[in-house]
Amino acid sequence: MKISNQTEELEQTLKALDTCPMRVLVPTMGCLHQGHIELIHRARQLAGQDGSVILSVFVNPTQFDKAEDLENYPRSLERDLSLCREHGVDIVYAPAPAAMYHQDHSITVSESALSSQLCGATRPGHFDGVCTVVLKLINLTQPAIAVFGKKDYQQLAVIRRMVRDLNVPVKIEGVDTIREKSGLALSSRNERLSPAQHADAARIRRALLAARKAHQQGEVSAQTLLGIARTEIEASEVGAVIDYLELLDSQTLQHIDRVNSAAVMATAVFYGKVRLIDNIELA
Ligand code: PAF
Repeated sequence: MKISNQTEELEQTLKALDTCPMRVLVPTMGCLHQGHIELIHRARQLAGQDGSVILSVFVNPTQFDKAEDLENYPRSLERDLSLCREHGVDIVYAPAPAAMYHQDHSITVSESALSSQLCGATRPGHFDGVCTVVLKLINLTQPAIAVFGKKDYQQLAVIRRMVRDLNVPVKIEGVDTIREKSGLALSSRNERLSPAQHADAARIRRALLAARKAHQQGEVSAQTLLGIARTEIEASEVGAVIDYLELLDSQTLQHIDRVNSAAVMATAVFYGKVRLIDNIELA
């Protein structure tokens, strides 16, 4: 496995792969867990045994709206590298911020429709940071395919839109969310939860499942469906605080009053300072 920390070094490594039939990129912010391992396995399936799986580890400062959140984001590069070795990653690109951004960088990619709700509304500038870094990583590694988890529904939609609108020559592959037995979606942030918060956070999934069940039984009112989910989350015994809980059209990511076509319920919930996200599709 090759590890690069600098752009030039990465370019050299990639040059040596010039004859490689297929490159697949897995962009991450590190602190890898089983969800990332699934992304790596999917990337390997797509790349084939002769292809290359490239994984980036970069805690991207431009997508954090609070310095404190950036500082507290968990980092575990040595462990990440050994997981990458174990799971057959070919190249890890783990640059420092200075290797990714020129001091006077002044170009940002901005998406203006799908980013207006959910995380885009509560974390101003977040998706500009995500789009910019993802486009840079794609430009640097020139993969045929880039793989992302579906836990961040809005991120996946925004990246697909960026690739479509800017004619970026890459296919975007979404991979299903991996969950603990309790239903809690795997996240690097889970390790910052206390045991009581960790147990309680399973209610996020229960809340979304309850709303989907009500919809499957014929309920279409957004207010009622959101109420069902809200009641479950707000029954938290450790003081979970809803950042957002919304029901949106799954294509436009705009609010709907009634579920008449494909929709997504998405939520972000604070457990203390730890913010967890999840979503569920209502067909
Ligand atoms: O989902 C993430 O981990 C990040 O937002 C990404 C896509 C790696 C960009 O920094």
